[in-house]
Amino acid sequence: MDELEQVADDAPGLVGAVNSLEGLKGVETELIGKNSVISRMRRGLSALDPDDRPTAGARINEVFTGVQVVIADRRRALEIAEENTLLVSDRVDVTVPNHRVTLGTEHLLTTVMDEVSDIFVSLGYRVATGPEVETAWYNFDALNTPSTHPARAESDTLYVDFGDPSDEMLLRTHTSPVQARYMQDHVPPVHVVVPGRVFRADSLDATHSPVFHQVEGLVVDTDITFADLKGTLEYFAKAFFGDGRVIKLIPHFFPFTEPSAEMHVSCFACDGSGCRVCSNSGWIELMGCGMVDPNVFEAVGYDPSAVSGFAFGMGVERLAMVRHGITHIKHFFENDLRVLGQFV
Ligand code: PHE
Repeated sequence: MDELEQVADDAPGLVGAVNSLEGLKGVETELIGKNSVISRMRRGLSALDPDDRPTAGARINEVFTGVQVVIADRRRALEIAEENTLLVSDRVDVTVPNHRVTLGTEHLLTTVMDEVSDIFVSLGYRVATGPEVETAWYNFDALNTPSTHPARAESDTLYVDFGDPSDEMLLRTHTSPVQARYMQDHVPPVHVVVPGRVFRADSLDATHSPVFHQVEGLVVDTDITFADLKGTLEYFAKAFFGDGRVIKLIPHFFPFTEPSAEMHVSCFACDGSGCRVCSNSGWIELMGCGMVDPNVFEAVGYDPSAVSGFAFGMGVERLAMVRHGITHIKHFFENDLRVLGQFV
């Protein structure tokens, strides 16, 4: 019984000294667990003289309950303390100003290029791309552009010198070289559009930039006519600028198409009566186009007597500028979010 009284005396101090719920469990096992003094004494009760049992039993229970109460009180205190620590360490100050995360959005040129491509994809065209650093052969020779053609001069074309003069390299001046690449890799029928970045030795003004974008189109099959070209471009004009548009094709010259034309669309802003958007002409020039020159077919290994086709190429900046009333091409490249943000 002395041992029991010792437990009763020591318990509050032991329990009070514990500072964690984990530690309290250990002390609990020590004080009232299976191998504790109290449990051992309970088990030993039957060995006592029957006359002593009630008093001893009552005292054991008293001490047991006392210890339980002390432990329960300590547990509650420790739980509250733990929760308070958590409340402080996990505190979120909802009044702190929020750091706004702005998500990136598409550049207007990307949006327009995708939109143009989508119009042709809806007609069954595929989308292809090609290299921006190109050989003179793909950019000019394959496209029936003679070595004396003015566009090949260094005043117009940006050449890249990799040190091998037999391999004349340049920054492509249009997306048309991808026509040749695509035909070399595919047998007709071909229906493809090619969005991409192109380069010219132009200085910057309101409508020219040394870097700009085009979408090229190419169709080749056994019986493609100029009427197919006209119908396709009219469909595009209506899809891009609205149902009321009409187009006109004005004779022009490109080395790689014959006949060639410039496609104009009736002004979407004034419906043709003349306004600022169309410089009072009622028409907006949109792209170059024409029937693929037989020499181009020869260059890529197609039989010009077996197939025919048309091609077109439009400037993406120009499309975006007329549609959105943007008056200087620099706005596409300065990346001022106050400007670009208006077109998301
Ligand atoms: N490549 C021409 C240009 O950059 C456009 C064009 C493409 C014309 C296809 C005819 C056919 O001006």
